[in-house]
Amino acid sequence: MNVDWDAVAAEKDGYPHFMLKEIHEQPTALRNTLKDRIIGDTVDLDNMNITADYLKDIKNISIVACGTAYNAGLVGKELIEGLLRIPVEVSVASEFRYRNPLVDDKTLVIVVSQSGETADTLAALRESKRRGSKVLAITNVKGSSVAREADFIFQTIAGPEIAVASTKAYSTMLLGFYLITLYFGQLLGKEMPKELYSGLKELPILADKIIIETEKQIESLIKPFEGWGDSFFIGRGLDWHVAEEGSLKLKEISYIHAEAYAAGELKHGTLALIEKDIPVIALATQKDVYEKTVSNIKEVKAREGYVIALAQEGDTEIGKSVDQVLAIPKVPSLLTPILTVLPLQIISYYVATSRGCDVDKPRNLAKSVTVE
Ligand code: G6P
Repeated sequence: MNVDWDAVAAEKDGYPHFMLKEIHEQPTALRNTLKDRIIGDTVDLDNMNITADYLKDIKNISIVACGTAYNAGLVGKELIEGLLRIPVEVSVASEFRYRNPLVDDKTLVIVVSQSGETADTLAALRESKRRGSKVLAITNVKGSSVAREADFIFQTIAGPEIAVASTKAYSTMLLGFYLITLYFGQLLGKEMPKELYSGLKELPILADKIIIETEKQIESLIKPFEGWGDSFFIGRGLDWHVAEEGSLKLKEISYIHAEAYAAGELKHGTLALIEKDIPVIALATQKDVYEKTVSNIKEVKAREGYVIALAQEGDTEIGKSVDQVLAIPKVPSLLTPILTVLPLQIISYYVATSRGCDVDKPRNLAKSVTVE
């Protein structure tokens, strides 16, 4: 018995939970997933065996996944549509498989699955192939069912993820989408923004920095959640999609109801729920929609919500409109998701532990859902 517990403790590397260990492993997971895949200003994913001829022939892309992997797909859609101008649909696998989906031999289906064993995702993969689509799998587990059955594979190198709540799998899935998008752009002969290549290479160092910074401020960041059963996450564009992941993290491990909303959509319903001191995390890192986001934040402040903002370093304005600011290292707007998600994971972790929750094994949830 004792031996087993010692073994588990040893695997946690001195961390009290796998989740915290895995949060801290993200700089390494990102570094490993990048390794040998960016050479200068070129992404090399030649071992995926996707040809330029095949890519030129596809009409659309359909991303299918569950849970955190689905949230990664939302970011993937923005990248692919933004940089490649190929229409992308994102579906939760449990809906896709029963929906008579619009996919055929001109559709590339991208399934995203950490474990590669999620029943709905696997069924969606099989349904797509039955309809003539080729399938690219973004997965963390070599030799998993999804990896075996897909036509093309992008392997994330996050290492084993034990905690039910996904952290390093998400950030490396995002990285996968960046690399795939740039690679497809190269194959299609499109000009890709040069700053993305150097920016991606910097992410591991910046991830390390933001993890340290967030933990330094953690007491004040988790205090606003004390005694609350509800919370909100808002943002626009990519920030909104990361807000979705942040709210999923908080609800699954702390059991605080957390709702993510497109900031501009607040006034169509959710604003009615904003009351004095209710915790709201606002992501405001997207340059193009910055002013709009700040005006949405002001709507929340006018109802006396308690706002923690995630903003780019050097933003001296936002502090005037919110209660607390956490600065995200400066990167091109398109690259922020991999950094902004880190504080959200850390805040969720510490809120949950402060409430005495079993973060590695939240109630009613499983790491891999292999049955319907
Ligand atoms: C479960 C896990 C989530 C995960 C989802 C999809 O719900 O608790 O963390 O995101 O399954 O898992 P997959 O292995 O397909 O990425």
